[in-house]
Amino acid sequence: MSWIDRIIPWRLRQAADMAEGGGQPQYIWRPAPAASARREGGTSFPRFQSTAGDHLDPRTADRFAMVRAKLRNAYTPAQPVTDRRMFAGRTKVLTALIRSIEDQRLHTVIYGERGIGKTSLLHVLAQAAADARYLVVYVTCGARSEFDETFRAIAANIPLMYHNAYGPTTLEGERGDTLAQLLPPEPITVRYAVDALAKIEGTRVLVILDEYDRAGSEDFRRSIAELLKSLSDQSVRVQFLIAGVAANLTELVANVPSIQRNIYAMQMPKMTAAEIRSIIKNGEGVAELEFDDAAIHAIIARCIGFPYLASLISHRAALVAVDQNRLNITADDVATATSEAVNEFKDRITRRSQMQIAEQVRKGRLAALGALAGAAQSTGGWFSLEEITAVHADPAGIAEARAAAERLAAERTLIEARDDEFGRAYRFLEPSVPIYLWLLAARGQFFQQEHPEPQSELA
Ligand SMILES: Nc1ncnc2c1ncn2[C@@H]1O[C@H](COP(=O)(O)OP(=O)(O)OP(=O)(O)O)[C@@H](O)[C@H]1O
Ligand SMILES: [Mg+2]
Repeated sequence: MSWIDRIIPWRLRQAADMAEGGGQPQYIWRPAPAASARREGGTSFPRFQSTAGDHLDPRTADRFAMVRAKLRNAYTPAQPVTDRRMFAGRTKVLTALIRSIEDQRLHTVIYGERGIGKTSLLHVLAQAAADARYLVVYVTCGARSEFDETFRAIAANIPLMYHNAYGPTTLEGERGDTLAQLLPPEPITVRYAVDALAKIEGTRVLVILDEYDRAGSEDFRRSIAELLKSLSDQSVRVQFLIAGVAANLTELVANVPSIQRNIYAMQMPKMTAAEIRSIIKNGEGVAELEFDDAAIHAIIARCIGFPYLASLISHRAALVAVDQNRLNITADDVATATSEAVNEFKDRITRRSQMQIAEQVRKGRLAALGALAGAAQSTGGWFSLEEITAVHADPAGIAEARAAAERLAAERTLIEARDDEFGRAYRFLEPSVPIYLWLLAARGQFFQQEHPEPQSELA
């Protein structure tokens, strides 16, 4: 079909529209008519309520549509928090990190479970460092991260005005040229990188490597460890801040044992009840609605210190209320929101896993599975008895969870096991199962306490 063929039917359509509309040109991309004219069989066709530019459609917007729009910024479970005003708590963690960077000139490693708030923390820390005139370079690692490419990306963010052979008044400095432009085409070695970074003066550079656990190459991790060691040994004005889930960060430190003196490693703690409350309150301020006390307690109990879950459940619970034209959120809304989240996460796992979980739940093993899921979340993969112990307070629960892990691994149901030099470790066969199990356990607990529900509906 030529472009002429495509245009002609369109013109005919336009002419027909004109005839129908009494001679008024009615273009086929015109905005849809008002709500009453959109009804088909009594129900209006679902539509977006705000434009891609975040403007509300004035034809459909009411008070609740506006609250709904504001809610998108009040709770953002799918994105890290980048706005300092929406960042809750973490004062101790931030203070400790800033001290280690500023007073001790250490490289810093921050590790913790998925959704515990590492990236959000890195964002506010990056802003604080930029306020103190650090040059901040943020790199998100990927499965294929290699040293050469990563170093070039870092160098591309370091202007030559901070290079001792150039400075701010040279042509290169004024033009905004960067360190990357001085690099040779052949692969960059750690030694070359250290020499290049040693030429920085007039600023301090903070290189943030987020999602370090995703980097699959051992070579990459060894090179980074060597780089950190050499930078410290030579007092270069560049510090690294590395974040990720635990397993590979231990490897990072273990790779070059003498590096431990140059690193401040911190495990990101779970949030306190007061911090979770402040996530909820910050969102209330933005969306102009209110969670009652019982709702706040229900969220605190459900999210077990995880800002991700707090944000997700708060957002969902608020939507449940707004859908019913209410601006007050109750514990019942939180219960409904948790159930919705459970169903959503259920759809992300295979049918096979769903059936196996349902079977375990029927056998009364939900609590044990919840504990194993918590342990898996804490490492992002393989977990040991140590992690099971850390997530469970009572010895009977630990023994039960451990027995469940052994039994399931023996059957290769949901879990597999391996033995290495550190002992026995377990892993969920499907990575999205732990978060689902965990929500399921949280919901089970909630329903047992407050809303009895048939067991069969749990999975
Ligand atoms: N201090 C905070 N204040 C408010 N909300 C937060 C805070 N920290 C995290 N969150 C919320 O929790 C969610 C998860 O946070 P974030 O993405 O920072 O976690 P993460 O540890 O980087 O997760 P992952 O390991 O999956 O990368 C975010 O979407 C954000 O909404
Ligand atoms: Mg992250």
